[in-house]
Amino acid sequence: MAAPNIETIVSLSKRRGFVFPASDIYGGLGSSWDYGPLGVELANNIKQSWWRWLVYERDDIEGLDSSIIQNRQVWKYSGHEQTFHDPLVDCRTCKERFRLDKLQDVRCGNNPALHPGEDRQCSLTKAREFNLMFKTTVGAVSADDDPNALAYLRPETAQGIFINFANVLNTSRRKLPFGIAQIGKAFRNEVTPGNFIFRTREFEQMEMEYFVRPEDAPRVHQEWIDGFLAWIRSLGISEDNLKLYEQTREELAHYSERTVDILYRYFPEREDDEKQWDELMGIANRTDYDLRVHSKKPENEEGKRLNPDSTEDLSYFDDATKQRFYPYVIEPAIGVNRTLLAVMMDAYSEKTNDKGETRVILKLTPELAPIKVAVLPLAKNKPEIVEMAKNIKRDLQPSMRAVYDDTGGIGKLYARQDEIGTPFCVTVDHESLMDNAVTVRDRDTWEQERISVSVLKEYLSECLKS
Ligand code: GAP
Repeated sequence: MAAPNIETIVSLSKRRGFVFPASDIYGGLGSSWDYGPLGVELANNIKQSWWRWLVYERDDIEGLDSSIIQNRQVWKYSGHEQTFHDPLVDCRTCKERFRLDKLQDVRCGNNPALHPGEDRQCSLTKAREFNLMFKTTVGAVSADDDPNALAYLRPETAQGIFINFANVLNTSRRKLPFGIAQIGKAFRNEVTPGNFIFRTREFEQMEMEYFVRPEDAPRVHQEWIDGFLAWIRSLGISEDNLKLYEQTREELAHYSERTVDILYRYFPEREDDEKQWDELMGIANRTDYDLRVHSKKPENEEGKRLNPDSTEDLSYFDDATKQRFYPYVIEPAIGVNRTLLAVMMDAYSEKTNDKGETRVILKLTPELAPIKVAVLPLAKNKPEIVEMAKNIKRDLQPSMRAVYDDTGGIGKLYARQDEIGTPFCVTVDHESLMDNAVTVRDRDTWEQERISVSVLKEYLSECLKS
């Protein structure tokens, strides 16, 4: 089973410390969220899984961490100043503002039973373009609108990779094909953010730009689509809740020749199957668009340089063919926050105990679980048991994330760990003092096994591998 809706995850997240509304004590800030003690661990584990899979387990990808604030020219030549817009309409009656292409996803302020424009009293203005980039000023400037100080918070991490193409190529001595991977924050002044952490104005991306010979791009594109489907499945997400979507010509971003999205079933409660799905990630063939637009050499028909501000040519010289060209780029781009939401929704399950009570179990894979093992004393008023449990926790901690908890009865403690996805609980009881063994309880089956403390670490390490 998976979560019946996003609301279930919102409530679990708040109750157990995964995600909190940001600025809550001041009334919040529309669609901003803070990641709590468990949320930050889960997000870190997702990022580590991605990084390990791409940068460590393959031999053809390097890492990068570029600046959030770059020279404004980056966004001029990338096309974002010109084209990174959403079409926006205002309702003259209810005074609300909507994205023209998302009217079907929102409700009319006059009549919440209808979509904007469906109510006869609702009068929408003509659409106008709204640039999604957040503006800021750099340095101590006299006026906030000083064009010389204008800068943007990056709306995608990708451009930081393109403008560092030559740096990485030259320092790592790479040959095509190779990739550059980056994880970091991106910012978009979304017109209609919402659905919890699905669409926010500040979010985190994991993007990889894979540089290839132009003729190899279609084949490599397909390989990355298959590769990412497999990686997403390795996070514990069921195949039934994933599907591919081929973007239409009209939907393609200005730089893309072909983009395939991987959709997740974020809205299982909706009757219409088509409306249950939304984008988890996109895998684009960006052609040679970005390397070309940031290069100083390309010229138009009149022999005029297309980019007079760049000091670098981002072309590639192929030693074998003695040819110089701009590599094509295949870009798998995925949001950390959307991945975390999909992972939590898919891991959500309920189970009834012998007393007929319903318990929540978050069946996270051991790799992603924020806590791998909880060590629990059966009697917290018995100092020898407490000491033994704390020693076991300390002994396990260097090898796996372990916690000690004595803040409730054993039934409550088990229920809490099940709900946050801890794969194993280790219970220290009176007998443990005699036989130097503990009870290991499995989160999913609730089965218990007696294990000697002398082999506990190896035993748990082995179980956590599966
Ligand atoms: N460099 C390409 C790029 O940025 P995108 O489809 O606009 O492509 C990539 O973004 C991924 O980033 C999306 O598939 C989604 O997972 C995530 N993302 C985009 N906008 C987001 C937002 N407002 N809130 C949360 N995640 C977002």
